[in-house]
This record gives sequence, C-alpha cells and structure tokens, in this order.
Amino acid sequence: MAKSFLKIAAVYFSIGVLLGLTMGIIHDFRLASVHAHFNLLGWVSMALFGLVYHFYPQASETGLAKTHFWLHNIGLPVMQLSIAVMTLTDSMALLPVAIIASLLVVIGVLLFTVNLFRQLGAASVKSPVSGKHTSMK
Ligand code: HEM
Ligand code: HEM
Repeated sequence: MAKSFLKIAAVYFSIGVLLGLTMGIIHDFRLASVHAHFNLLGWVSMALFGLVYHFYPQASETGLAKTHFWLHNIGLPVMQLSIAVMTLTDSMALLPVAIIASLLVVIGVLLFTVNLFRQLGAASVKSPVSGKHTSMK
C-alpha cells in the first residue's frame, strides 16, 4: 500500500494548498479547519503511512493495511466535505455523517497501529541508501 498512500497523499496536498490559496485570495477563512485536515490527515499522515509501509513492506501487504487505506480514504473526504457543507450553510444537519466518517478514520488509525505491532516484531528495515534489508531490535 506504500505507493497508493504516497500518491493519494500528494493529491490531498494539492487539494489542501489550493484551498489555502483560495482562502487567502478571497479572504474567507471559514474553511481553515478543512484546509488544515486535508493537509494534516491527507498529506502529512498519509505520506507518513506511505513511508512506513515502504520501509516495512511486510506490514504493507496485509489485509489490515488495505482496510486501513480504504477506511482513511473513505472517511477523510466524507468527514471534510460534511464539515465544509455544515460550515458554509451554518447548519449542523450533517453532524452524524461527520462523526461516522471521523470514526472510520480513527478505526483506520487503530488498525494501522495493530498492523505495525503485529508485523514489526521480527521486522527488517529497508535502507534508503543501499535498498538492503537489515533486522531491527
Ligand atoms: C501554499 C500553501 C498554503 C497556503 C496558501 C495556506 C493558507 C492558509 C490560510 C489562508 C489559513 C487560514 C489562516 C487564518 O485562519 O487566519 C491557513 C490555516 C492553516 N493551515 Fe495553511 N496554507 C498552506 C499550506 C499548509 C500546509 C502544508 C499545512 C500543514 C501541513 C497547513 C496547515 C494549516 C493549519 C493547521 C491551519 C490552521 C491554523 C489555525 O487554526 O490558526 N497549511 N492556511
Ligand atoms: C479523525 C481524526 C481527527 C479528528 C476527528 C479531528 C477533529 C478536530 C476538530 C473537531 C478540531 C476543531 C476544529 C475547529 O475548531 O473548527 C480540530 C482542530 C485541529 N486539528 Fe484535528 N482532528 C483529527 C486529526 C488531526 C490530526 C491527525 C492532526 C495533525 C496531524 C490534526 C490537527 C489539528 C489542528 C492543527 C487543529 C486546529 C486547526 C484549526 O481547526 O483551525 N487533527 N481537529
């Protein structure tokens, strides 16, 4: 899942900075939190997931990693779009949607944690220089 996470992270980075730029240009900062989470849960977190899965390939090939990817990538856009609609329409109608979507992201993070604890027991780490795998303490 390393490449999938890295590629989708770059897409979220583009969305995040475009939203930041737009907010700056039109001087309307109501979506600052949406911008922050597209950048932080979208770009920063997912780029880190991608790098972790790159350096620990045994963790990236599990069903948990795949489920984590989909929970994060269904949860995040639904969470942020529902928050954006609520903010722009000044309504709380979509709060249950935002909560359920946030829960998907949180469950994804918990699965990521379980996956790492399971797979990194006898893990080897891939050297960024030589590409060789060496075992970790
Ligand atoms: C060209 C890139 C970017 C632009 C033009 C931009 C623009 C903005 C603007 C206009 C705001 C609202 C400020 C306010 O409410 O007073 C903001 C808030 C924020 N931005 Fe960005 N941003 C950029 C990149 C990033 C990146 C890469 C991150 C994180 C990795 C980030 C994280 C945040 C956070 C956390 C806030 C909320 C700060 C707060 O609550 O006061 N931004 N950004
Ligand atoms: C499912 C996960 C997450 C949920 C449900 C969540 C929820 C929230 C909520 C409700 C706020 C207040 C928003 C507001 O005042 O309008 C907030 C603010 C913030 N969160 Fe998160 N968050 C999550 C993950 C993260 C992560 C992973 C990071 C950083 C890596 C982060 C960084 C921030 C920052 C910097 C702010 C203040 C920026 C702003 O809203 O102006 N959050 N978050």
